[in-house]
Amino acid sequence: MTIDLNASDIMGAALPRVDGPDKLTGRAKYSADNHLPGMLYGYGVYSTIAKGKITSLDTSAARQMPGVVDVFHHNHFTDKLYHVPANMAKGLKVDESRLPFEDDTIYYAGQLVAYVVANSFAKAREAALKVKVTYSEAQSVTSIKQARTAGVSPIEQKPSEKSRGDAEAAYTQSAYKHEAVYTTPFETHNPMEMHATAAQWEDGKLVVYEATQGVTFSRNTLARVFGLVPENVVVRTPFLGSGFGGKLFTWPHCIATAAISREVGKPVHFMVPRAQMFTTTGHRSATEQTFKISADAEGNLTSMTQHTLNSTSEIDIRVETAGRTAPIFYKCPNVDIANSVIQMNTGSPAAMRAPGAAPGIFALESAMDELAVAMNMDPLTLRRKNFTDRNQVEDLPWSDINILEAYDKGAAKFGWDKRNPEPGSMRDGKDILGWGVAACAWDAMKSSSKARVSFLANGKVRVSCAVQDIGTGTYNVMAQTVSAATGIPVEKVEVKIGDSDLVAGPLSGGSWATASLLPAVKQACENAISELKTYAVMDKSPFAGESEEDLTFRNGQLSSQSGTARSFSDILKAIKAGSAEGEGSTGGAMKEGYSSRVFGAHFVEIRWDPEIADLRVSRVVSAIDVGKIVNHKTAANQVEGAIVMGIGMAMFEHTEYDERTGRPINNNIAEYLMPVHGDMPDELEVIFLDKPDYNFSEVGAKGLGEIGITGLAAAIANAVYHATGKRVRDLPITLEKLM
Ligand code: MOS
Repeated sequence: MTIDLNASDIMGAALPRVDGPDKLTGRAKYSADNHLPGMLYGYGVYSTIAKGKITSLDTSAARQMPGVVDVFHHNHFTDKLYHVPANMAKGLKVDESRLPFEDDTIYYAGQLVAYVVANSFAKAREAALKVKVTYSEAQSVTSIKQARTAGVSPIEQKPSEKSRGDAEAAYTQSAYKHEAVYTTPFETHNPMEMHATAAQWEDGKLVVYEATQGVTFSRNTLARVFGLVPENVVVRTPFLGSGFGGKLFTWPHCIATAAISREVGKPVHFMVPRAQMFTTTGHRSATEQTFKISADAEGNLTSMTQHTLNSTSEIDIRVETAGRTAPIFYKCPNVDIANSVIQMNTGSPAAMRAPGAAPGIFALESAMDELAVAMNMDPLTLRRKNFTDRNQVEDLPWSDINILEAYDKGAAKFGWDKRNPEPGSMRDGKDILGWGVAACAWDAMKSSSKARVSFLANGKVRVSCAVQDIGTGTYNVMAQTVSAATGIPVEKVEVKIGDSDLVAGPLSGGSWATASLLPAVKQACENAISELKTYAVMDKSPFAGESEEDLTFRNGQLSSQSGTARSFSDILKAIKAGSAEGEGSTGGAMKEGYSSRVFGAHFVEIRWDPEIADLRVSRVVSAIDVGKIVNHKTAANQVEGAIVMGIGMAMFEHTEYDERTGRPINNNIAEYLMPVHGDMPDELEVIFLDKPDYNFSEVGAKGLGEIGITGLAAAIANAVYHATGKRVRDLPITLEKLM
């Protein structure tokens, strides 16, 4: 049997979070909430210099403090750990490739240089402050500008396969052209929940309560680090206070905590302080992008050149793939994409919400606006003109694309037709209004996933998988899928996730968890129903003697042609079976002959009061094309959250390093500016086109966690230009850049 999930109203229903009561009452346990019997507490000593060597490390005062058990640093235990080269298909990756305490070299400020273990957090912290480290310090480099001045050469990456035609020649010959450099700063992930690890060894088996976006990845990776079979590692993350990409893979503090727990023979608990979340657990690289774009007299794009440079650490080369969108998105015959990285004394960068696309589309969609201004063409008209229904790189049709409808619906709702293109011409009282538009796009991906569904004799249904809920509503979409497939109300569905011992599930990243899970959950339901039917015709069952093929399952009941109908729990009880189970498994393969993405458009109004230099975003209307919406409430919440993060990217966020010391200056959430309630637009409306993409999957739901942040900074920059006549190409758009 195959079930059509979308035949049920539950798919799409704006149900409140099934995990809401647990979160509200504090029953939900996060990683740092795990205080195990006999547990010890770790606290880090972090490098105060950004480049150099440790010359001495004096732990004697710390060791004499009451309650201190041990102090670890370089030369300790790294000979017992192994490197793990990244292999995404096998679920293996560390975010910083250096093992903790591997050498006495300092690569960045805030690097973990020692680790104190004591019988309480307070004692560990106090003792950590007594560890004396001396260094030989060298001049560090913590910005692209400083790196250039210091003569650090960018490392060119291999030529992009996305380039085509002859962009330079086409640019030279075109009627309209625009060239500019766009920059985006270092940004730091600041999820509410800080990174934390609680590790315990039981008979050679490692149990880790970890704040991770991937229990399966984390389990596989830790097993390799410690030379264990994966079955001897368990990673548990029943609840996660978000991550934004910063918790995708394993960081040094996690490895150190597990290693130290083994050394001391007791469970160990460790939290990364907020200040160190600005150093040791990733950030978005700073980027510098040279963008050239040209069009013929009618506005057809003739060339695009996007040469990107991004910061990376001295430990790891990480390309922030800012050139990922321009080559595929608009119809354009000549494209030249190149990426370089420049190494410096910052921690290893990581994926941060819509990695590559967030900075890359800022450049692309700003450049499109600048070209439209140069041509005296409406910026939305320019975008429509260059629409294509094919992936320009793969030369394949999109599995579905409704961006023209997104432009129409967004524009209608926003009132775009009332826009006067003249900068500074639209006013409301003292405020000058600026209206800007930008397209947004992100990948639509799937990964392999399993799921298990069990009908229980007590009348409940359990669905389980080694996935985790990053806060997006994974509990909900799993419960709703089971409910849609079985007709059993959501209240009777138990969702068990966040434990690597369950059947393997996807990372909560790349906006692919929901897209990967749902087909597996649906299949597991189908298989569980099959097993139930097998049981139903056994002796002592109400359907004994009937044939399985004659049974139909609806609303939690089996019925036969003879008119008998029984609930699954009655059937299980009758034959004294505890459960009927099924497993589902999807490989994550895409349908051949198509390419998939998600698309949309942001319309933004800003208000600029030049008298008091007040800039605020007053309206955002976003029309989003991400396929079928599984839950309208959590989906809107995701996109709204990403839009708020996009406002942060456009106007506030910027991790600043002191170029003398190489230390981040604003390493706390008081000084690292993010939007607060007062910065919220008066109107924030997300319109979902809600069209299932059946070429993508049988459910038609694509991911929506990341698309909202893409394009938003450009829409704001374009609106700021429209209000002020000033083009800001360097994020964030702070007031001094407008004065
Ligand atoms: Mo996302 S940056 O893949 O967590």
